[in-house]
Amino acid sequence: LDNRLAKTPPMGWMPFERFRCLTDCVKFPRDCISELLFMRMADLLVTEGYAAIGYEYLIIDDCWMEKQRDENTGQLIADRERFPRGMKFLSDYIHSKGLKFGIYHDIGAKTCMHGGPGAKGYYAIDADTFASWKVDYVKLDGCYIGGIDLDIAYPAFGKALNRTGRPMPNYELIKDHCNLWRFSEDVKDSYDSVTSIMYNYYKHQNALQKSAGPGHWNDPDMLVLGNYHLSYEASRLQLAIWAVVAAPLIMTNDLQSVRLEIKELLQNRDIIEVDQDPLGIPGHCAFRSRSRQISVWLRPVSPQNNVGLFSYAVAVVFLGGYEPCPLCPQAHVIDLEHLGLNNNMGYAVYDLFDSSRHLGLFKPKDKFTTHINPGGVAFYKFRAEDIL
Ligand code: DGJ
Repeated sequence: LDNRLAKTPPMGWMPFERFRCLTDCVKFPRDCISELLFMRMADLLVTEGYAAIGYEYLIIDDCWMEKQRDENTGQLIADRERFPRGMKFLSDYIHSKGLKFGIYHDIGAKTCMHGGPGAKGYYAIDADTFASWKVDYVKLDGCYIGGIDLDIAYPAFGKALNRTGRPMPNYELIKDHCNLWRFSEDVKDSYDSVTSIMYNYYKHQNALQKSAGPGHWNDPDMLVLGNYHLSYEASRLQLAIWAVVAAPLIMTNDLQSVRLEIKELLQNRDIIEVDQDPLGIPGHCAFRSRSRQISVWLRPVSPQNNVGLFSYAVAVVFLGGYEPCPLCPQAHVIDLEHLGLNNNMGYAVYDLFDSSRHLGLFKPKDKFTTHINPGGVAFYKFRAEDIL
């Protein structure tokens, strides 16, 4: 969608995978979906250094609404108990922190988990309501869509939003009408979920690669780093692959309790730079071993050298499990020429997980050997040297 937004994949925070649809604020006062949760996360995005590095959207997910619209105006209303000061108050608070405000809605009759009112029959009213709340981003879910043609409904809601004059990227489906769209299942806090989404990208990568670029991105769903079930290796894996496929980097965690080593990953400037690369070319899996345990993922990135050849972000994934030692790190030899890295002047290689430590110059005929921990990833930048 060319609305001058999302020139690079959006970055921010969203509650869903971590806080789900927790509406019982008596039992869960800290974790329930309420204005206090979002204000706390807005504060932490700033004080913990996330905002400064680019995580700028705070996006509310499902379960924020009253179950009924306002009976006179037909407008959506934020739950009165959990958002006692209303959405405009929360929006102002988020903006006062220098952040942008995103909200969730559903294109169908009801929202997925909460069963709040969907947009069906109310596109213009809801778009106007969001504009009056100064919403910057709309996540538009797709539940309860019986009788609705999504190819018509998403563009129509997009037009209703654009008509308000307030540019808001909305979510899902076709690149002419949306800034991003989900292509896989909901992410969960598990290694299996991360690798399954990776595999879904791999299966459809030709089509997915073609459809993404500045203003329109494939969304593999939120970053689950910082919760409970991803190991350090799996956390690196999710971050690296999300950067290779030019994914939105939308965290879902409690920013207050993210372990330091994971916070350092989430704030790794060199990897964020890959994700946000201005060329906006999504990467793909360029090699998969016969055992399927090792794969090499490539993304063309800037800088291009003086004859226009790309640099590359290169992620080498090892799913683990080789006999005789399934838990041993595995060596893998990268054949540059075979991967299409054929700049005769070579590539300066940097380790993106180690403060971009320089590892030497490698030419197309050279072999680059890496070691990957099981269930993990090694991640490099191969910077194209200039032709003399
Ligand atoms: C399904 C979406 O895929 C999730 O990300 C989340 O928004 C839920 N619906 C909320 O009900």
